[in-house]
Amino acid sequence: MTVTDVLTGKQQWGIFQGDRLESVRQLPDDSIDLIVTSPPYEKARTYGIDFSLRGQAWVDWMIEPWAEWQRVCKGLIVCVCEGQTRGRRWSAVPALLMADLHRAGFNLRKPPIFQRVGIPGSGGKRADHAHHGGSADWLRNDYEFIICTSRPGLLPWADTLANGHKPKWAPGGEMSNRNTNGTRRNQWAGGELSSGGERQTHGERRPAGRPSHALATRRRLGRGNEKGTCGRRISRGHANGDATTSDSYDPPAIANPGNVIKAIVGGGVMGDKECHENEAPFPEKLAEFFVRAFCPAGGLVLDPFSGSGTTVAVAVKMLRRGLGFDIRQSQVALGRRRLSGITPAALVE
Ligand SMILES: C[S@@+](CC[C@H](N)C(=O)[O-])C[C@H]1O[C@@H](n2cnc3c(N)ncnc32)[C@H](O)[C@@H]1O
Repeated sequence: MTVTDVLTGKQQWGIFQGDRLESVRQLPDDSIDLIVTSPPYEKARTYGIDFSLRGQAWVDWMIEPWAEWQRVCKGLIVCVCEGQTRGRRWSAVPALLMADLHRAGFNLRKPPIFQRVGIPGSGGKRADHAHHGGSADWLRNDYEFIICTSRPGLLPWADTLANGHKPKWAPGGEMSNRNTNGTRRNQWAGGELSSGGERQTHGERRPAGRPSHALATRRRLGRGNEKGTCGRRISRGHANGDATTSDSYDPPAIANPGNVIKAIVGGGVMGDKECHENEAPFPEKLAEFFVRAFCPAGGLVLDPFSGSGTTVAVAVKMLRRGLGFDIRQSQVALGRRRLSGITPAALVE
């Protein structure tokens, strides 16, 4: 198996020993659809290779391969990372890296957040801070940044609703604006709500009298396009004198999932038991989010810090192709072992 076999599609996946920069130099321009990766986090772990970069030295080391990654990748570059907190001081390296990428001219995208559900902790040592209510402070470490860049303009392929869900609220429902007197008005047509707003889940009957109720009901009855129903002009926001008129709202079947990505972490829930042979794997669910939304079927996903092969495994399970590099032969062997147990056809999305 060679890198060329993966690039040409002869092989669906390949994991090879190599450096995050040097290994990518051998790839042609535009040969990758998506990069999903996660580097060593400063000195958090030495990875058996005496990894000890921190602060600006770590940032510089991370910037170094980025132009090569951008050269080969047509789509999004997704890099999950975090700094260290020592003595209640956060190193801020994700923020520093984003700032340096920005200054170097890379096209940053708004960074999504990886919320690690299941991380225990109170925010610090307890014993010596009993007078603070049993907790040293409240600044816990529940999330990591996901640094994203792309070439300027639209991504060549994206299906942002692929991770979407049914809208939480029925059409016209529950999102509301506050009036100057503190009451709330429904955003579509001004009906007054109680100060907390009324809550209602998708598909339930709405209280009569609110204009959006008529809209929702007519849609359910399949008469949405009749003149005077869904196609009508509606007036919005008149309660505070800034009325606008527009075509009525066409509620989406699927809501955008947003950019806070929650994934449960910990033993047994990362997607594969083999992954724990890496010191810091991310859960398959996290990689799935990006592969589903930003790599077309059959496209090629690269991970230049592949570790246990999570990204490559997810790509293959989702009927894409995967290419991984890791500096350590032990991780290459681990990734290959993990991938050899996956049968793509049996694991369609
Ligand atoms: C945070 S781990 C990646 C874990 C991976 N996402 C997973 O789910 O298993 C970082 C990996 O980067 C590798 N690494 C460290 N220095 C590297 C380099 N210069 N080039 C490529 N890989 C490197 C380490 O061996 C380690 O496996």
